[in-house]
Amino acid sequence: TGLVVAMDGPSGSGKSSVSRGVARALGLRYLDTGAMYRAMTWWMLQQAVDLADPAAIAARAGEPRIVSGTDPDGPEIHVDDVDVAEPIRQSDVTGAVSVVAAVPEVRARLVALQREIAGAGDIVVEGRDIGTVVCPDAAVKVYLTASAEARAQRRSAEVAGSTVEAQQAAMAKRDILDSTRKTDPLSMADGAVELDTTALNLEEVIAAVLRLVEA
Ligand code: ADP
Ligand code: CDP
Repeated sequence: TGLVVAMDGPSGSGKSSVSRGVARALGLRYLDTGAMYRAMTWWMLQQAVDLADPAAIAARAGEPRIVSGTDPDGPEIHVDDVDVAEPIRQSDVTGAVSVVAAVPEVRARLVALQREIAGAGDIVVEGRDIGTVVCPDAAVKVYLTASAEARAQRRSAEVAGSTVEAQQAAMAKRDILDSTRKTDPLSMADGAVELDTTALNLEEVIAAVLRLVEA
C-alpha cells in the first residue's frame, strides 16, 4: 500500500492548510477527520440530542451516514446526502464538537470509517489521534504545534467578528477537553516529529514536512 502521512496537533496549529499543501505537492489524497467529528456533531444538534448526556450521544452515534471526500483541492463532507461543508464550521458546532468527540461510541464509528478510507494509502490524514490510533503504521508522523497566541491569532483572522482573546479562550477549552478525554486523547505518537510552526509561514512548514517524507 501507498504512503500515509499522519498529521496531528491542537487547533490552529496549521494541520488543514499544511496537510492540503503536502497532499497537493505529492499528488496524495487528503482526509480531514475533524470534519467528520464536526459532521457527527452537526447531526446531533439537528436531532436535538441532549449533549449533556453521553449515553444519549452514544445511543444515536450509529445513525448518521457520514461521507467524506479526499480531494485536497475541494474537501467534501456529506451527512445523509446533505452537503454540510459550511454549517460544520459554525460556532455552535465548534463549541460542541469536543464533547461529542469524547464519546467512545462516536470514536469507534468514525475511526472505523477513517481506517477504511486511509487503508489504501497515498493519503495525508489530519486530526488528533491519527499517529496514535487511526494510522499507527504511517510512514511519516508529524505533530504540529504553535504558541497559544499564534494559534488564536490565525483562527481569529479567519472568523469574522471574533477577538483574539475570545478565540484563545475557546481554543484553550477545546484543547483541554481533547487532551484529557479518556478515549484516544490528543498526544504525540511514538515516532512522531514535532514541528513548532510559531515562527514559520505556511510554505516553510510544508517544505519541512516534504523533507521528512523524502528522508
Ligand atoms: P488547524 O487545521 O490545525 O486548525 P489550519 O490549517 O486551519 O489549522 O490553520 C489555521 C489558520 O492559520 C489558517 O488560516 C492558515 O492559513 C493559517 N496558518 C496555518 N499555518 C500557518 C503558519 N505556519 N503561519 C501562518 N499562518 C498559518
Ligand atoms: O480545525 P480545528 O483544529 O479547530 O478542529 P478540527 O480539526 O476540525 O477538529 C474539531 C474537533 O474534532 C477537535 O477539537 C476534536 O474534539 C475532534 N477531533 C478528534 O477528536 N479526533 C480527530 N482525529 C479529529 C478531531
